[in-house]
Amino acid sequence: MKDKIVSLLKKSLPLEKKEIESLLEVPPNSELGDYAFPCFSLAKTFKKNPVEIAKEISLKISSSKEIEKIVSVGPYINFHLNKKLLAQNTLNDILKQKDKYGSSTFGKNKVIVAEYSSTNIAKPFGIGHLRSTIIGNSIANISKFVGFKPIKINYLGDWGTQFGKLITGYKRFGDEKKLKNDPINHLLELYIKVNASSELDSESREWFRKLEEGNKEALQLWKKFKELSLKEFDKIYNLLGVKFDVISSESLYNKKMGVMMSELQNKRLLKESEGAEVVDLEEYGLGVCIIKKSDGTTLYVTRDIAAAIDRYKKYKFNKMFYEVGAEQKLHFRQLFKILELMGHSWAKDCVHIDHGLYLDNDGKKLSTRKGKTVFMSDIINETIDLAKEEIGKREKLSKQELERRAKTIGIAAIIYGDLKTHRSSDMVFDIERFLSFEGNTGPYLLYTYARAKSILRKAKSKPKKLSLSIIDTKEKNLISKLSAFPQAVESAYSHLAPNLIANYVYELAQLFNEFYHSEKVIGSDKESFRISIVESTAQVIKNALSLLGIPVIEKM
Ligand code: ARG
Repeated sequence: MKDKIVSLLKKSLPLEKKEIESLLEVPPNSELGDYAFPCFSLAKTFKKNPVEIAKEISLKISSSKEIEKIVSVGPYINFHLNKKLLAQNTLNDILKQKDKYGSSTFGKNKVIVAEYSSTNIAKPFGIGHLRSTIIGNSIANISKFVGFKPIKINYLGDWGTQFGKLITGYKRFGDEKKLKNDPINHLLELYIKVNASSELDSESREWFRKLEEGNKEALQLWKKFKELSLKEFDKIYNLLGVKFDVISSESLYNKKMGVMMSELQNKRLLKESEGAEVVDLEEYGLGVCIIKKSDGTTLYVTRDIAAAIDRYKKYKFNKMFYEVGAEQKLHFRQLFKILELMGHSWAKDCVHIDHGLYLDNDGKKLSTRKGKTVFMSDIINETIDLAKEEIGKREKLSKQELERRAKTIGIAAIIYGDLKTHRSSDMVFDIERFLSFEGNTGPYLLYTYARAKSILRKAKSKPKKLSLSIIDTKEKNLISKLSAFPQAVESAYSHLAPNLIANYVYELAQLFNEFYHSEKVIGSDKESFRISIVESTAQVIKNALSLLGIPVIEKM
């Protein structure tokens, strides 16, 4: 429908299709119409005031079967769609396209490299990593839904001087059994111990040097730490239902820097500074970036430059996303600038998708709750236990079913609790609130879906053909929200903002609950029509939640 209006307007306006599309608005009040075109920007071209322009153009464009009425209101041209036809088209589209409703082919034949999660080996799965995992996964889902081919990469932090400390710690105080049973905790313990005693510094440096040189013993221990850590992280990925196409890591880009260094040299980008090699980005306001330390070792940014170049070679991406906390803003600006100065034209297609912090109830950073490191796996399991308690109160279920539902509800609470807020904002991590069955929460949405499904189970017959009678306001509001889903997906992609889909599905659920509370579905003389509304709503809730990374449950 939007396309129809755009092409109608294009016939009478000296504007490009894209411009018209971006100007077209949805009026704040549905009584004003379904779409509105503001005429302010035309005043110069037409040398008239916008009110007159709106009037003239609205008289010039004629209505049609789909667009019932075109009127000017002040400086706006308002379009009223034929509600019956809109309802029919929308419901037909949803019931025909099912899981694909809302998708598009916008990104066809284009590749997006989406890097997210990127946890650090031998360290707890941090809260920032959880945000990155949730948001990155959703953005990869959305990219795929609008037609791109996403390549999902987890880029592990598995290199750096801390591994010298860990090897020293393990050799001195390590416990094989503890390492197997609780690797992250044990490694953290060792790390803290070694870090606290400066007399172990030179030994640690020595072990890192050996590791860099490929010493067998050092490599073996490092590998072991890595495997055991990954196994722990996989538990969290499994709970969250997150999968990657590629597990990459910093250590892969620690060697073979030769080509990259000479490339930097040839472009005259490298400078010497106190024995280290640096790229001076002062003139761009980005400081000085160390590329190679005086002892010849690489840095985080060095490995990132090499990784980016390698990814472009491998995947020829059209875009590359890095979902990483906002505290690394400068790092990514430096990285992209260096790539650009090296002459890689694709540097402009690299995007740092940032996120804010999780705060505790008292407004402090959650990661250091009560002065202790917060383990993400503990938080997730606590949430699932709380969900179990809550649903156990409501219904008698088999142990297995209780587990299953609690897991889905707990995960939905966490994912939705995160995604409902714009990613760049800091947000309070309030599990009690996230888990509530009422209000703007994951469980509320799952519950709404299950309610719709329960109506459908009770309905005797499936509607064959849509027969439309008069449409009342509640039905109309709900259907026009359903018809807006493709647009919500489109803007979630263009703003890289999953919260737009979260907000959309919450509003949809509210409209559905209003409809459900005041209108009879089963046994009404509009049963067949209303059943198709219910079925369509369930479908769109499912599609939206699936883009957020939240699976639905049929009963709740
Ligand atoms: N492992 C890093 C950290 O935890 C994040 C890596 C982000 N990705 C990148 N390509 N630099 O801080």
